[in-house]
Amino acid sequence: MTRTPIAAGNWKMNGTNAEARALCRGLAGIDAIAGVDVVLSPSFTQLGLVWDFWCGTDVHIAGQNMHTQPSGAYTGEVSPVQLAEVADWVIVGHSERRQFFCEDDQALALKLRTAEMNGLTPILCVGESDAERENKRTANVLTRQVSIALGDDPAPDGLVVAYEPVWAIGTGKAATPDEAQSACTHIRSVLSDKLGEEVADGVRILYGGSVKPDNIADFMAQPDVDGALVGGAALDADAFLAITRAIAASG
Ligand code: PGA
Repeated sequence: MTRTPIAAGNWKMNGTNAEARALCRGLAGIDAIAGVDVVLSPSFTQLGLVWDFWCGTDVHIAGQNMHTQPSGAYTGEVSPVQLAEVADWVIVGHSERRQFFCEDDQALALKLRTAEMNGLTPILCVGESDAERENKRTANVLTRQVSIALGDDPAPDGLVVAYEPVWAIGTGKAATPDEAQSACTHIRSVLSDKLGEEVADGVRILYGGSVKPDNIADFMAQPDVDGALVGGAALDADAFLAITRAIAASG
């Protein structure tokens, strides 16, 4: 099964509108790189302008979060209906959402279904903490996170899973390619148990955590790593272009 790899940039809570525009300009030509799906995930206030900038290209735009209700009295939240006006993808369950905003596996299960109902392709983020890793709980944590988020329903359309060990995010201490491969293989086996082998084979699984232009090729050499979710390096247009080219070249 061939899986088109993904280069996804998570801009987190960074930049002004002017800076977001400049970053988009710096990424000129990224839509012409063949053999890779590009996803940009700016913060809510930048979504409209980034969506308009890439309109008519193959670049996908992702929200970093969303509420599960279509509308209502939820001050400060953004609904999936609102998000779908300026994005076609959404990140679900980033570890920073789990850590700082108390999102748990059950809440994320609902968000996955919400994404599907609103035509948004979800990137479900999973990954163990430093303590869980030290206690050799990585496989258990990944099994729990993937199983509960998926529930007993069929996979949401286009489901993407990102393996992002919490200890590797923003630390400069990336997982080794072997660690990434073994976690991604495990995730695929959990998907296979839940969804069947054929479906699991088609799900793209990304690695995220201190991905840089100089380590991406080693991750992409792993058979179960289908791309990257990039934080810090995605804020540097040249670095993200280099990562995207390396991902495309891996196919
Ligand atoms: P990082 O972040 O690349 O800065 O480690 C990755 C992420 O949080 O998605």
